[in-house]
Amino acid sequence: MSQAKVLVLHGPNLNLLGTREPEIYGHETLDDINNLLYEKAAFNGWEVKALQSNHEGALIDAIHAARLDGTAAIIINPAAFTHTSVAILDALNAFDGKVIEVHLSNVHKRESFRHHSYVSLRADGVIAGLGSQGYLAALDALIKAADA
Ligand code: DQA
Repeated sequence: MSQAKVLVLHGPNLNLLGTREPEIYGHETLDDINNLLYEKAAFNGWEVKALQSNHEGALIDAIHAARLDGTAAIIINPAAFTHTSVAILDALNAFDGKVIEVHLSNVHKRESFRHHSYVSLRADGVIAGLGSQGYLAALDALIKAADA
C-alpha cells in the first residue's frame, strides 16, 4: 500500500522528552522522534501526522478525526492516560484501522500501576522498553504488513 496515512499520538508530558527523567525516557526530544518517523514514512511513500497533547479530549478528538480522513493506522503512546483512560480506549474502539501502542520505557519493569493498560485491550501490537526505536519498529511493522 503506498501513500498510507498514519497518525502518531503522544500523550501527556511527552512534550518534555529530552529533559524529563532522561534516565528513564532518554535524551531524544519529541521533535527528534517525530523527525525519524517523518523520514521513514517519506522514504516508504507513507505519510505520518504527529500530535502531542497534555489533554485527553484533544487526543480523543484526533482519533475521531482519523476515522474520517483516511488514516490507515494509529501509533499511540498514551503516556499516563494508558493506565487511566477508558475514554481513549472507547475512541480507539471506534476507529477501524490498525492500532499500535508504544511506550519508551518498559512499563512492566516499573511501578505496578503502570502494568495495566486500557489501550492494550484494543491495540493490535504493543511495544515497550525500546525507547524511540519502538516508534520506528511500529511504523516498520505497519509498512511491512501492508506490503505483505
Ligand atoms: C510511558 C510510560 C507511562 O507509564 C508514563 O506515564 C509515561 C510514558 C512511556 O513511554 O514509557 O508518561 O508511556
